[in-house]
Amino acid sequence: MTTTATKTVTFKELGFVNTREMFKNAMKDGYAVPAYNFNNMEQLQAILTACVRSRSPVILQLSKGARDYANATLLRWMAMGAMEMIKEMKEGPVPVALHLDHGDSFELCKSCIENGFSSVMIDASHLPYEENIKLTKQVVEYAHQFDVTVEGELGVLAGIEDEVSHEHSNYTDPAQVEDFVKRTGVDSLAISIGTSHGAFKFKVKPGESAPPLRFDILAECERRIPGFPIVLHGASSVLTSYIDMINKYGGKMENAVGVSADQLRKAAKSAVCKINIDSDGRLVMTAVIRKVFAEKPGEFDPRKYLGPAREELIKMYMDKNQTVLGSAGRV
Ligand code: G3H
Ligand code: 13P
Ligand code: ZN
Repeated sequence: MTTTATKTVTFKELGFVNTREMFKNAMKDGYAVPAYNFNNMEQLQAILTACVRSRSPVILQLSKGARDYANATLLRWMAMGAMEMIKEMKEGPVPVALHLDHGDSFELCKSCIENGFSSVMIDASHLPYEENIKLTKQVVEYAHQFDVTVEGELGVLAGIEDEVSHEHSNYTDPAQVEDFVKRTGVDSLAISIGTSHGAFKFKVKPGESAPPLRFDILAECERRIPGFPIVLHGASSVLTSYIDMINKYGGKMENAVGVSADQLRKAAKSAVCKINIDSDGRLVMTAVIRKVFAEKPGEFDPRKYLGPAREELIKMYMDKNQTVLGSAGRV
């Protein structure tokens, strides 16, 4: 294949799959497909290694910020290289989707589709309802010509949604979901049921547990769009062991709190077919790198701190697939 940086490439040429079949299987068997964000080579290697070893389908997610950080052209070749890498792994390949996380415009979604993404999210949930429908429908009509699947969103999560910061969440109104899905033609729907982005999801006092997610809203959405794939953003657990490690080795992340594994297990058994996790990966990398620097202050070879971070990431992702999302052993 002669692919140049300017030529349009389809996801099929790169070896990716869209999310249609993935979600059908996840819905039928009661688990969720992991959607892990990456920004660099070590995260990409760790996600794919973990998912190949645990025989899990996976959605590789890139945000607009990640694309700007790593360079869109380089990412396209990295993603293609990653697919070649997993073909060489002794366990054999698993289905991989390349997904745009929190796309904020038609142009960005189009550019990703032209660069081999198999799935895009158009996040217009902060716009008035009719404008959300209009923009989402425009993306769907373009994407479906190339068999690319589209995720839309209804309701707004608190925290950072890419470059848009929301102080308060706005739960999804179940009365809108059927109309939205029908009029836009989306393939999956992200909803807001109490999760939020980042490492400080709930304001709780020491010793108190985080409030439960609004499973009543999820159930009502499921009732109105039966069998339709639902997506949960902001689903990092903010694992205490890594927060403790960060704080022990010079960091300052008191009061960081995430969504408990039990809540995610319950969601994964429902119509939630995609669970988005970014912060947990960031925390693992930060914790391990801080530990290496604290214990070996003379270390200056990036392989000596990024390598151990990558190993710990593999363990964390494998554990998520096996014990939380239920996606391990499905390939
Ligand atoms: O939901 C947002 C993701 O965690 C991506 O974050 O925009 O900082 O890359 P980012
Ligand atoms: P977390 O910040 O909880 O990892 O959420 C990630 C996310 O929703 C990416 O879209
Ligand atoms: Zn998100």
